[in-house]
Amino acid sequence: MAERVAIVAALLLLAACHQPAKEARQAGPTPLRLELPAWAVADTSLRLDFPYDNPLTVEGAALGRMLFHEKALSADGSLSCASCHVQRFAFADSARLSPGVKGMRTARNTLPLMNLAWDHFFFWDARALSLELQAFEPVTSHREMASRWSEVYDRLRLDGRYPALFRAAFGDGRIDSLRVAFALAQFERTLVSLDSRFDRYFHLKEPSAMNAQELRGKDLFFTRAHCVDCHEPPLFGGHQVVNIGLDSVPIDPGMGGHTGMPWHKGRFKTPTVRNVAVTAPYMHDGRFATLEEVVDFYADGVFVHSTTLDEHMMPWRRGEVRLSAQDRADLVAFLKTLTDEGFLTNPAFRP
Ligand code: HEC
Ligand code: HEC
Repeated sequence: MAERVAIVAALLLLAACHQPAKEARQAGPTPLRLELPAWAVADTSLRLDFPYDNPLTVEGAALGRMLFHEKALSADGSLSCASCHVQRFAFADSARLSPGVKGMRTARNTLPLMNLAWDHFFFWDARALSLELQAFEPVTSHREMASRWSEVYDRLRLDGRYPALFRAAFGDGRIDSLRVAFALAQFERTLVSLDSRFDRYFHLKEPSAMNAQELRGKDLFFTRAHCVDCHEPPLFGGHQVVNIGLDSVPIDPGMGGHTGMPWHKGRFKTPTVRNVAVTAPYMHDGRFATLEEVVDFYADGVFVHSTTLDEHMMPWRRGEVRLSAQDRADLVAFLKTLTDEGFLTNPAFRP
C-alpha cells in the first residue's frame, strides 16, 4: 500500500515537472486586467469577480469587440449589436423603440451598456442572470437580429478571420453560440465608465469640477429628493428591480411577466443614471423625451397608489418629496455632471 502511494506520488511529481513545458508550448489567452481609477480600486463595492468559466482575456475581449460590431449576427446582415447600442449614446440609442430586422421594433427602450461587470441581472425585467445568458437572446430574437445560430456559424466561418480569432480566445477554432456569447460578455465587461465630472469632484477632490447649481442638485439627489435610495453610488443603479409608480396599473408587467408573481408586476431594473444626459428617451418604454420630464414625474407624477409600489417609494406615498421649479432644474443640472466624455469617445470600444 505504502509502495503504491509512493509510486503515485512520484508520478504526480513527474507530471508536475512536465507542466511548465506543456504550458509554454500551448500558451493560452492572456488574462486582461480592467484599468480602474485608483479610488475605484479602493472601493470594496467595486471588487471584480468574473465567472470562473469565462475569465476576462485580451483575446476574448478583442473577439467580443469584433462580434459586437458584426452585422453577420443578424438574419439579413443589416444589424450589429452596435446598431442599437451606439457608443456616443452610452451604448443606448435615441429611439423610443429600436428598429430590428425586417421592420420589427423592440418591445422596450434600448438599455445603455456600462459597468455591467458589476451587475447581477440584465434586461429591464431582470430576466437574464448573467451577461453570458443575456448575449444569447438578441441574436435569435425575432424583434432584434432574428438569426438562426447555424446560419451565424456558417457566416462567421465564411469570413476567413474568425476561426483564428476563436482559436486565440478559446484554444481551438470551433465556432459555437456559447463562445460567441462568452466573447460578447467579455467585451461588455470592459465598458467601464467611472470618470465623470461628479467623480472628479467627489473622488479626486477637484472643487472646480462642479458649479454651485450642480452642487445644489447633488445635495438634493442625496437627501430630500431620495434619488440615492435606488440610484446608489458609485454605480448609480443596476442593483434593484422596483415599481416606481409610472402607471396606476402597470401596462408592461415587467419582472412579473417572466416570474408570474403578482407582486412583481410593474417592477423594472433600476437603470444607472451615469451618462443619462445622452441616453434619451427615458424609462423602459421611452415615454419621457427629456430629463426635465423625468424629474417632473418624480416631483408630481408618481402613482402612489400603484398596488406594487416599492417600499423605497414610501417618501412619495407620505407626500414628503416636494420639489420646487428651482429644485428640479438643479437636479437636472446634477444629472448632467454624470456624463463621462472619455467613455463616449474611447477608441478601445470602436469597431
Ligand atoms: C434591435 C436593437 C438591438 C440590438 C440589435 C441589440 N440590442 Fe441589446 N438591447 C436592446 C433592447 C431594446 C434592450 C432592452 C430589452 C429588454 O430589457 O427587454 C437591450 C438590452 C441589452 C442588454 C441588457 C443591459 C442591462 O443593463 O441589463 C445587454 C447587455 C445587451 N442588450 C447587449 C446586446 C448585445 C451583446 C447585442 C448583440 C448580440 C445586442 N444587445 C443587440 C436592443 C438591441
Ligand atoms: C424606488 C427606487 C427609485 C427611486 C427612489 C428613484 N428612481 Fe429613478 N429609476 C428607478 C427605476 C426602477 C427606473 C426605471 C423605471 C422604468 O422604466 O419602469 C428609474 C429611471 C430613472 C431615470 C431614467 C433612466 C433611463 O435610462 O431611462 C432617471 C433619469 C431617474 N430614474 C432619475 C431619478 C431621480 C432624479 C430620482 C430622485 C428624484 C430618482 N430617479 C428616484 C428607480 C428609482
